[in-house]
Amino acid sequence: MYRTHIISETIALPPGTEITLAGWAQKVRNLGSLLFIDLRDRSGLLQLVSNEETADKIRTESVLQVTGIIREREQKNPSIPTGNIELSITKVTVLSTAETPAFSPLASQEVDELIRLKHRYIELRNPEIQAKFQKRHRITTTIRNYLDAHGFWDVETPILTKSTPEGARDFLVPSRVQKESFFALPQSPQLFKQLLMVSGFEKYYQIAKCFRDEDLRADRQPEFTQVDIEASFVTQEDIIALVNGLLKTVLTSLSLPFPETVPLLTYKDAMTLYGSDKPDLRFDLKIQDISPIFIETTCTIFKNLPVYAILVPNGTQFLTRKVLDELPQIVAHHGIKGVAWVHHQPEDLHSPIAKFLSDAEKETLKKHIPVGSTLLIIAHPTHALPALGTLRLHLAKKLNLIPENTYNFLWVTDFPLFEKDTETGELSACHHPFTSPHPEDMPLLETQPENVRACAYDIVLNGTEIGGGSIRIHDAKLQETIFKSLKLTPEQITGKFGFFVEALKYGTPPHGGLALGLDRLVMLLTDSQSIREVIAFPKTQNMSCPLTNAPSEITSEQRKELGLK
Ligand code: AMO
Repeated sequence: MYRTHIISETIALPPGTEITLAGWAQKVRNLGSLLFIDLRDRSGLLQLVSNEETADKIRTESVLQVTGIIREREQKNPSIPTGNIELSITKVTVLSTAETPAFSPLASQEVDELIRLKHRYIELRNPEIQAKFQKRHRITTTIRNYLDAHGFWDVETPILTKSTPEGARDFLVPSRVQKESFFALPQSPQLFKQLLMVSGFEKYYQIAKCFRDEDLRADRQPEFTQVDIEASFVTQEDIIALVNGLLKTVLTSLSLPFPETVPLLTYKDAMTLYGSDKPDLRFDLKIQDISPIFIETTCTIFKNLPVYAILVPNGTQFLTRKVLDELPQIVAHHGIKGVAWVHHQPEDLHSPIAKFLSDAEKETLKKHIPVGSTLLIIAHPTHALPALGTLRLHLAKKLNLIPENTYNFLWVTDFPLFEKDTETGELSACHHPFTSPHPEDMPLLETQPENVRACAYDIVLNGTEIGGGSIRIHDAKLQETIFKSLKLTPEQITGKFGFFVEALKYGTPPHGGLALGLDRLVMLLTDSQSIREVIAFPKTQNMSCPLTNAPSEITSEQRKELGLK
């Protein structure tokens, strides 16, 4: 037996108890006649004391087995749970000596990411980081229990498969046996979970690894995990109710608050009110359509354009010249050249554009803007709303408008079925091509496809999309029509999805589902800045793993065997 107790259990032990512990020597301090060691295991930290010479050789981060007697500490340490006691060592065995690590697990925050990830096993010794993984485990266990209680079966689907389009590039794996043929790693289990509905499984879930070769960001990794759900004979309302219940159970298990009801906003309203399909509703700053004020304007900046604005309460106080001058840069990537501002000072309007406005326009603006507030205005034929969406987020951060420890959930529904490429004019699926068109919009499929709404919904938490799903097409003919709208030729349809369309013909129940981005959910519920913090061995920004040096070259023999030139 390596140990009689774990460290967290020592708090309850009376002084005089003899115990054996095992763990890592986090800190070793030699005070001449006395040696102090902070021993760490997964459950906590305990001070050990020794007056033995032998203990002097112990290097930090070595693994020890220590026997000793619990006693009360002379100098208490209120910052740790075991701070009132210590272990007076009677025997210490070094189970494994540590060389000096590249950094201390406690100080990894100050270390460059490449070095941290190269020695990720050291960084993962940090108790604060371990706490995030403990929470991740709690979350997945709660999810499994919840879905099990609701009749869902955990079914695994293939990793070596055919392309599943979710809008990213595929990772490809060459086949040794079928030369010049490739498997694709799944971007999601989408097609397989739908096939399981054709099979009559009725309720499926999987905590599934997904692979997408796309540019990385703080909330994106090339391989990530989805809580993937699909059910038969369900409506959008059923899926929303199921996921609300799931999220409520997860947050409750972490002692976090969950709202009575989660609001729903259509995509159209989300875009016009917040300039985003994943608005952060922890703060207000709604967008206003102020085009009517400028309907007859002679001011060239606004003439014949949609004009939108955000009203910043008390803006005259907070929006300094420096902050205002930065704004055009914040929205420049939307192709927006300027952000007009109008302060309503007690005496008059104050604005660089005041001289271009008529008296009537100024009077209307005075009535519109409360004294002390500021109106920020963007006019643009197509991009004013998303630009104000970006501005809204920037202002909220700059003006500290985002409350801490708030979990604001929102469903965004009625997404468009298709997106139109602004350059080529070609349509692509907004969610994925298996999403059902809104029944009311069916007649528009041929004539105005870009105006067709989808039975698709996203769940948003604090301005991050944490999940998305849809009610699916369960009719083979409609599925083929959608593929045709996407300009797939009959040969392409057969080559890419023939097996799937074929399956739909043999009795497919109406079905729908959703996938939650597990890493994103855990990131937000553990107050992390990036999903990399909640993935044990993440990839860097340039999609590599500094620990294993993957991806790496292969030998010429492997190349030959795989038939790669
Ligand atoms: P979607 O593509 O919206 O839907 O993905 C679902 C959720 O997965 C998360 N996610 C990611 N997380 C980390 N890194 C990435 N690269 C990444 N990409 C996506 C997001 C997202 O909301 N098959 C559909 C689901 C369905 O229709 O049932 C799908 O994959 O949180």
